[in-house]
Amino acid sequence: MEAVYEWPEPIVRVQTLADAATIPDCYVRPCSERPNLAAVPVTASNNIPVIDFASLASGRETAAVAAACRDWGFFQLVNHGIETAEEVRRAWREFFALPMEEKQRYANSPATFEGYGSRVGVVKGALLDWGDYFFLHLFPPSPPTKWPSSPSQLREKTEAYCAALAKVVEAVKRAISAALGVEEGFMEAAFGEAAAAIRVNYYPKCPQPELTLGLSAHSDPGGLTFLLPDEHVKGLQVRHAGEWITVDPVPGGLIVNIGDQIQLLSNGTFKSVEHRVTANAAADRISVAYFHNPQDDILISPASEIVRRSGPALYRPITYKEYKIQIRMLGLGRQSHVDSLKTT
Ligand code: OGA
Ligand code: NI
Repeated sequence: MEAVYEWPEPIVRVQTLADAATIPDCYVRPCSERPNLAAVPVTASNNIPVIDFASLASGRETAAVAAACRDWGFFQLVNHGIETAEEVRRAWREFFALPMEEKQRYANSPATFEGYGSRVGVVKGALLDWGDYFFLHLFPPSPPTKWPSSPSQLREKTEAYCAALAKVVEAVKRAISAALGVEEGFMEAAFGEAAAAIRVNYYPKCPQPELTLGLSAHSDPGGLTFLLPDEHVKGLQVRHAGEWITVDPVPGGLIVNIGDQIQLLSNGTFKSVEHRVTANAAADRISVAYFHNPQDDILISPASEIVRRSGPALYRPITYKEYKIQIRMLGLGRQSHVDSLKTT
């Protein structure tokens, strides 16, 4: 597939639509995809598992990590020791509050996606999500000019946060290898010289949240995602046993989820689970997603040790580079991208 360099239609910033009485038709989902906003009760039994980072890093949570990755594809990581999370969220809030013409200087295109965006797929006439975002690569890094120059400390704060997070990610990868019953360095080797990127999601207030979604149902295409959720406003929902469970974020915690590449590497043992974000009439919401992805040109295929133990290999090998091109053409959506690699 060839990459595409232009958006198929003029871009409308969702933020400019927040104060209207109704939402444009291109945001109205078919009935089957509309969220049921009557609050889903969040109890200990239907919230995603919570795992303590200090215990995980010392190898004491192998069973809990295995159960979370297998049964939920998600967990919340508490006690991770990253102290700069709060100021990163605040800096990005400031960015999204800047005048539109300032933000437009960073308008992105589907050539690289870096910058200020309001859609992912390039299919003309596609249904759109009720959200704007800012996307950047950390490694290999985006050119400095792609970073907003205001607020002034935004780049330094974000990079410091991501550097601290990278250490947490390494420990989580070791825990995932242990949870899969493969050698400790398996994930590390499989990812090669891993890449990192962030997507800061900004979900403006929405006049008709019952008709739309902040982010449509998708699985994350990469390796692992570490989400810093909004401290006040819920919205992330995870598909579990056929239902949408609203995540109740633990204060100070990070939400970790398995992406498609770990589903492939684990031969389907660990699941890249569908999730989505609901829109909200009362408040806007911000989240900072950090994506830890395999080196672009390394082949990702089911671990031979897992295949030997419980084969056959369910997926054909693919590089992450090729995988991304498929997604950029078609937009994020469900599990169809992983499914397209099934061998049977
Ligand atoms: C994502 C994502 C969830 C959220 O950026 O891939 O799923 O709560 N974000 O913003
Ligand atoms: Ni996601």
